[in-house]
Parts: sequence; C-alpha cells; structure tokens
Amino acid sequence: MSNSAFIKSSIAKKYWMALTGLFLCLFLVGHLLGNLQLIFSTGEEGRRVFNEYAYFMTHNPAIKVLSYLTYFSILFHAIDGIALFVQNKKARPVAYAYSKPSANSSIPSRYMALLGTLVLVFIATHMSNFWWKMKYTEEIPLHSYFAKTDKDFGDTTYAKVFETKEFYYSQTGPIPKDTAATTVKGLDIMVKGTNLKYGSGFKDLHTVVLQYFSKQNKSESGIPVGLLGTIFYVFSMAVLSFHLWHGFASAFQSLGLNHPTYTPLIKTFGRAFSVVVPGLFAIIPVFLYLIS
Ligand code: HEM
Repeated sequence: MSNSAFIKSSIAKKYWMALTGLFLCLFLVGHLLGNLQLIFSTGEEGRRVFNEYAYFMTHNPAIKVLSYLTYFSILFHAIDGIALFVQNKKARPVAYAYSKPSANSSIPSRYMALLGTLVLVFIATHMSNFWWKMKYTEEIPLHSYFAKTDKDFGDTTYAKVFETKEFYYSQTGPIPKDTAATTVKGLDIMVKGTNLKYGSGFKDLHTVVLQYFSKQNKSESGIPVGLLGTIFYVFSMAVLSFHLWHGFASAFQSLGLNHPTYTPLIKTFGRAFSVVVPGLFAIIPVFLYLIS
C-alpha cells in the first residue's frame, strides 16, 4: 500500500472508531440511568418499576432501532480497532530501538487495544448473563407475587398470582388468576388445558439480576459465583474507565475537532466522564451484593 493510501485508510478507521465510540458513550449514559433504578427503587416497588422498564426497553420500536445501532457500533468499533492495531504493527513490525513509550504517550493510549479487548470480553459475558436470557430463553420467570385470595388453595390462603401487562380473558375481574388455573408460555399466561390466553406478563429480570449478584449465588460445588461476578464487574469497570480516559478526548481529535478553548474543556469533561460513569456502574453490583 502506498504511504498516502495507508494514512487515508488509517484516518478513515479512526474516524469511524470515534463516531461509534461516542455513540457508545451515549448508550452508557442511558444504560446507567436505567440500571440506577436497581439502587434507588428497592423492594416490591423496585421490582415492578425495573421490570416494567425492561419490558418497555425490549418492546418499544424506537428503542429497538437504538439497540441494533448499539450492537452494530460495538462490533464495528471492535473490528476496526483490531484492524488498526494490526495495521500499525505491520507498518512498524520492530519497535524503535531506543523508543521510550512512557516518554511519548500515556499508559492508556499504549494499552487501548488490550483494554478494548477486555471490555469486549466483559460485554460478551454480561450480555450472555442477562440480555441473552431475557431475549432468547424462557429461563426468566414471569413477575409474580403472592396474594391473599377468597378461595382456599389446600392448606394456604395465599396464591401465587402474576403481574400482568394486559388481560385477554377474565372471569373474576382485574385480579389475575392463581397458578393452579394458569400456565406460562413465553410471555403469555394461558388458561390451563386450553388455548385461551389469559394475559401477558412481564419477565422478572429484576429478580434475575438480584440473584446473580447475591451472596447466596453459589455453584453446586460451593464456588461463590455472586462474589466472583461482583469482583469481575468492578474490575471491568476499572478497565472501562482507563479505556474511556484516553478514548473520549481522542475521539474528538480523530474527528478533527480541535479548538484552543474547547479542546481542554472536552479533555476535562472526558476524564470526569471516564471516572463517574464506570464508577456509578461499579456501585450497582457492590450495592446488590451487600444488601443480599
Ligand atoms: C454494572 C452494572 C450493569 C448492570 C446491572 C447491567 C444490566 C443489564 C441488563 C439487566 C441487561 C438486559 C436488558 C434487556 O435485555 O432488557 C443489559 C443489557 C446490556 N448491557 Fe448492561 N448492565 C451493566 C453495565 C453495562 C456496561 C458497563 C456495559 C457496556 C460496557 C453494558 C452493556 C450492555 C449491552 C450492550 C446490553 C444489551 C442492550 C440492548 O439490548 O439494547 N452493560 N445490561
């Protein structure tokens, strides 16, 4: 490749990395605000609020478009980053004999590829924990609670009832039927033994998240999965923080946005962002672990 073509393709890669990276920063702010509900709204009310929020996020058409843009940005940012790393390595296969990297660049800038890879490993693990289960499996139970009923169910006067999004069929008014008369299929609650849809429920993602980060979450052989998961999240947020520390301001440079007054402000904002956002994310699993 000629020198100028090399520089051009490398500039284009940096440009797209900057755009996708800044979009992902916006995603982080939205995701953080949604997840902070896990701390600020607790108990039964917290469960209802979070599950209704999760339902909205997975069913609203505009949010769905944003979600696909997020997946695309993660993949594009990662692939472009790897390509840029390989391209730079090929251009300079042997390190300069007397290079002193610490004198020329900060630690995050030299380790951006490694930090990015660790963030990608975190995202893959994280999405398989919650997002995959929520979207593609029936492992997440429907939101249910116990309520006193006027009927007697064997030796208890309490029955498990489902919190429903909407009712299709009701004989007894607005209170959902007990599980003895209904069965769950996906998001639908069916009248047992029939094809009649009784209602449609919310997936109980709140309980799944709380159970994951709980002290009681242990494997059969006694490995403290909840504790290890919490440590993994905190470690990953530290990695994300270093990645953003360099990445945020560098994105503006890659887009060619240099200004004597605004560039120092962007740098300061980027550093505050890279500490505050991952810091608040890290508090969530620690809080959930401690209260479990
Ligand atoms: C530490 C606190 C965090 C918690 C408790 C949390 C929780 C969740 C949950 C419950 C979901 C599933 C939502 C659904 O499918 O409706 C989800 C999805 C997701 N999370 Fe997180 N998350 C955290 C941090 C992060 C971070 C730091 C990143 C990125 C670096 C991230 C990236 C994602 C992505 C890309 C999705 C899929 C989003 C979509 O489908 O639109 N999460 N998260």
